[in-house]
Amino acid sequence: MILAIESSCDDTAAAVIQNGKILANVVANQKIHENYGGVVPELASRAHQQHIVPVVKAALQQAGINKEELSAIAFTVGPGLMGSLLVGSSFAKSFALGLDIPLISVNHMQAHILAHFIKDEPDQKVPRFPFLCLTVSGGHTQIVLVKDHLEMKVVATTLDDAAGEAFDKAGKIMGLTYPAGPQIDTLAKKGDALRFKFALPNVADNALSFSGIKTSFLYFLKAEVQKDPNFVEKNLSDVCASIQHTIVMHLMVKLRKALGKYQVQDVAISGGVSANSALRNKVSMLGNEMSKGVFIPKLEYCTDNAAMIALTAHFKFLKKDFADQSIHPRARLSF
Ligand code: KG4
Ligand code: ZN
Repeated sequence: MILAIESSCDDTAAAVIQNGKILANVVANQKIHENYGGVVPELASRAHQQHIVPVVKAALQQAGINKEELSAIAFTVGPGLMGSLLVGSSFAKSFALGLDIPLISVNHMQAHILAHFIKDEPDQKVPRFPFLCLTVSGGHTQIVLVKDHLEMKVVATTLDDAAGEAFDKAGKIMGLTYPAGPQIDTLAKKGDALRFKFALPNVADNALSFSGIKTSFLYFLKAEVQKDPNFVEKNLSDVCASIQHTIVMHLMVKLRKALGKYQVQDVAISGGVSANSALRNKVSMLGNEMSKGVFIPKLEYCTDNAAMIALTAHFKFLKKDFADQSIHPRARLSF
């Protein structure tokens, strides 16, 4: 029975897992960043401090257990915002010390991928090793070759911004609140994805890049708004559909290349941007075309949550892979 804590960015989350089965999964979002166009680190860590005790209490209550029944405490050690990570890690370390039980550190990006192994139904299918996972979040964009639960290799990564950041920045330019990704997704449903064209980045097969897309989007809108100050309002759905199409096409070009290079039976997506409906459709189509099994997480397991931290901790617990009290969170952390 493991309590897992996630606090790497702007969601304070706690989950309880027993023998690999999720008993509780609680998330407190932080509305405070809405008007800033992105997460404000100092505000995020203060909000984590306010949320962490009620969120952990709620998770224990939802699981119907008391803290003495716990076998270990898990927490996100990185990557993420240092101030945010410190709140979760300090809490987890103190709790484990107080209860005299093991501490388990979890890599947030590894956990996003292992979300595919959360079995809400007993006969739920899981990806077969090795498989490729496109991990797309607000801070990361990677294609990962997953050889085993705890053995992963990044085979392509972004040179600059992350895909989620590209959505959020495009939204900010259009005057949408943070996080803009889900709003762009909704608005794009009524728009024409091919109306406005933005150049796709020309980078190596194992690289992705979003800064050029962002800049060309900014200059395009500036020029249009100069001609017609109401351009954004008049064309919002088409603009959203077109920028979403560009971001998704870039991801798909790179995923197709990786699928051509690595021998895998299955392909998966994970991270906040895997909630995007256009990406979900395109990955399903690509998988079918290339005869791969396709794994797309439930919406609740796309964005940050502690259930994925709990499941990763479950695999680490089985290996007795425990952390020491001297462990420090890491803003940057690879596999
Ligand atoms: O994984 P996540 O919750 O947090 C990080 O680890 O970064 O990802 C958050 C990101 C944000 O950039 C948000 O705009 C994006 O995921 N996102 C979406 C959608 N839902 C969340 N982007 C596009 N379409 C969506 N439906
Ligand atoms: Zn995340």
